[in-house]
Amino acid sequence: MHSLSPKITIALDGYAACGKSTLARDLCAALEYSFIDTGAMYRAVTYWILRQGISLDPNRPWIQILKDVPFVWHVADGIFRITYNGLDIETEIRSMEVSSRVSDVAAVSGIRAFLVRQQQLLGREGGVVLDGRDIGTVVFPDAELKLFVTADTEIRVNRRLAELIAKGTPVTRADVKANLDERDLIDSTRQDSPLQAAPDALWLDTSRMDRVQQLRIVLGRAQELVDKRGWSASRSVVVP
Ligand code: DC
Repeated sequence: MHSLSPKITIALDGYAACGKSTLARDLCAALEYSFIDTGAMYRAVTYWILRQGISLDPNRPWIQILKDVPFVWHVADGIFRITYNGLDIETEIRSMEVSSRVSDVAAVSGIRAFLVRQQQLLGREGGVVLDGRDIGTVVFPDAELKLFVTADTEIRVNRRLAELIAKGTPVTRADVKANLDERDLIDSTRQDSPLQAAPDALWLDTSRMDRVQQLRIVLGRAQELVDKRGWSASRSVVVP
């Protein structure tokens, strides 16, 4: 699907709170690529469904329904933004209410079909880093660089807890752990596009690595691929 073009596509998949989005942002800053936060898109649909109070009947014509919902997903200055009815919904989509329902929403095939298509349209020019669960397997199976990101459970819980507390969300450690465990289970056992590593993904355990180390490894790998296969990246990769 993705032809050899000047800009490559980087797929980051893995369990919740492994540090994918931080790594994605760092990569985008280093490469001047665009970040596509696909989890945020599932969260936006979840927010809308909760707001409408409609059931998750898998037989609804979800593609038809969702195409009329006034979402706008776009990348501005390298930052991935979602608006609904013209309003930025970043805070709303990160709530615990949305977090506790998003995996059920993401298990509905019609909803996935709609969002996968949107993601393919957003990333079709290359020069993108996509963070999600099925990027290297379904959305961009021909991505030039695929990573499967992991981290120890304790570390993931601590990171997510710190993020939520910093935003002033009233939450306990037990709530965060229960939410991550539940989402990982649903995300990796659902029938449609379960979370799994692409066979050609590079595994990256971020448990004991800081941001700079992670970035160095991935940029090094991107440079190797570009050199080996003769792709020319948008500009040469500079390792900090
Ligand atoms: O990355 P995140 O934790 O914000 O993602 C929220 C949920 O969306 C996650 O629990 C599973 C779902 N998701 C998915 O099924 N496929 C994706 N490509 C991205 C997210």
